[in-house]
Amino acid sequence: MTMPERDEPQATRRIGVAMIGLGNWSYQLGHAIRRTPQVELIACYTRTPEKRERFAATFSCANASTLEELLNTPSLHAVLIAAPAHVHTELTVTCARHGLHVFVEKPMTVSLDDALLMSAVSQENAVVLMVGHEMRRLGSVRAMKQLVQDGALGQVVSASAAMTLSGRFEPDNWRCHRDSNRGGALMQLGIHPIENLNYLFGRPERVQGAFANAVAPGDVDDVGAAIISYEGGVQAVVNASYVSPSSQRLSLYGTRANLHLVTDMRVWPDAAAVDATTELVLEDGVERRQMAITPRDVLVEQMVDFAESIRRGGSPETGPWEGLMAIAVVEAALRSAAKGGAVHPGRLIDELTEKGAANDR
Ligand SMILES: NC(=O)c1ccc[n+]([C@@H]2O[C@H](COP(=O)([O-])OP(=O)(O)OC[C@H]3O[C@@H](n4cnc5c(N)ncnc54)[C@H](OP(=O)(O)O)[C@@H]3O)[C@@H](O)[C@H]2O)c1
Repeated sequence: MTMPERDEPQATRRIGVAMIGLGNWSYQLGHAIRRTPQVELIACYTRTPEKRERFAATFSCANASTLEELLNTPSLHAVLIAAPAHVHTELTVTCARHGLHVFVEKPMTVSLDDALLMSAVSQENAVVLMVGHEMRRLGSVRAMKQLVQDGALGQVVSASAAMTLSGRFEPDNWRCHRDSNRGGALMQLGIHPIENLNYLFGRPERVQGAFANAVAPGDVDDVGAAIISYEGGVQAVVNASYVSPSSQRLSLYGTRANLHLVTDMRVWPDAAAVDATTELVLEDGVERRQMAITPRDVLVEQMVDFAESIRRGGSPETGPWEGLMAIAVVEAALRSAAKGGAVHPGRLIDELTEKGAANDR
C-alpha cells in the first residue's frame, strides 16, 4: 500500500474520520459524530456492498469498495473501527502504519499479545490510539468515582458487578464461536464493568475466571465470571451473560457505606439515555439516599477527546494502556480457567471421604 502525504489537521477544520465495520454499533457512533462539531464523517468501509451503501446514504459520506481505497481518501486523518474484536488488531495495525489515528471499539482486541502489539505500533507511528470505553464517562460512574475519592464510603473493601445483554445468535455470526469471540460474554460485556473497576480501583493484581457455554448455539462462552483482587485490597466479582435480559449493576461495599448503581438497560444501545435510567443509591445502615447524577452524552464526549488528542498530540482518557489493562483482566481470567486453578468442592469431598474410608479400613 502507498502512504499518502497527510496535512496536519488545523484547529479551525473538522477532523475527517472514516468508519470501518458497518454493523449495529457503527450507527450509534455515526449519530454521535453528527452531534460532535470537531469531527466529520467522510468515508466508510465494510466488506458487504449493501451495508456500505446503506451506511453511506444514512450519513452522506463516501463509500469505499476496498480498505486500500478508504485509507487513501483525501483529507482523512483518522478511522473508527467498529468491526468484530478479533479483527481489531489487523485493522488497527494497517491503519496506524498508514499514518492514521485510530479509535477502536472495546474490547481493544481479544488477547493481551495483540493489545501490546497495537500499543507498540501506534507509538512507533506516532498516531493516537483510543479505545471505546465510554462507560466510565457516564454521569453515574463519574459520581461513584467522586464519592469514593471523597471518602463517602469509608474504605472500599469489595465490589460486585454484572453486565448482561440478551443477543440473537445466528449460527454464522462471529459472536457464536470461541475462535471469533474469545472470552465471549466476559470479553464483550464484562469488559465494561472491568474497565469501570480499573478506573475506580487502579491496578488489578490477581484474577480468577470461570466460563461456560450455557445456552447459546456454537461454542461461545455465553456466561463468564471473574474475581479480581485490586492492589489497594478491593476484592471484586464480575458476572457477564449473553443470554439474560439486559441489565447493568455495580455495587461497592465500604466500611462506612455501600453504593449501588442500577441501570434499566432497556434503553440500550442509546448510550446517551443510560444516565436517565440509572439510580445511584448510598446506604449507610441508617438511611438510603438517591445520589444526584448529571446525565452525559458519553459517545460525543469520547469523540471530542479523540479529536482533541489528535489536535494537541496528547493521550485520550482511554488510550492503549486503559484498553490493554481491561484485556489483561480477561486474559488472566481465561488463563486461570484453562489451568483449572480452582478447587472443586465435589472432588474435595470425594478425596476426603475416600481418605476417611481408607482410615476406617
Ligand atoms: N462501546 C460499546 O458500548 C459497544 C457496544 C456494542 C458494540 N461494540 C463493539 O463494536 C464492534 C462491532 O459490534 P457490532 O455489534 O456493531 O457488530 P456487528 O453488528 O456484527 O457489525 C460488525 C461489522 O463489521 C464488519 N466486518 C467484519 N469483519 C470485517 C473486516 N475484516 N473489515 C471490515 N469490516 C468487517 C461486518 O460487516 P462485513 O462482514 O460486511 O464486513 C459487520 O457489519 C465490536 O467490537 C463490539 O464489541 C461496542
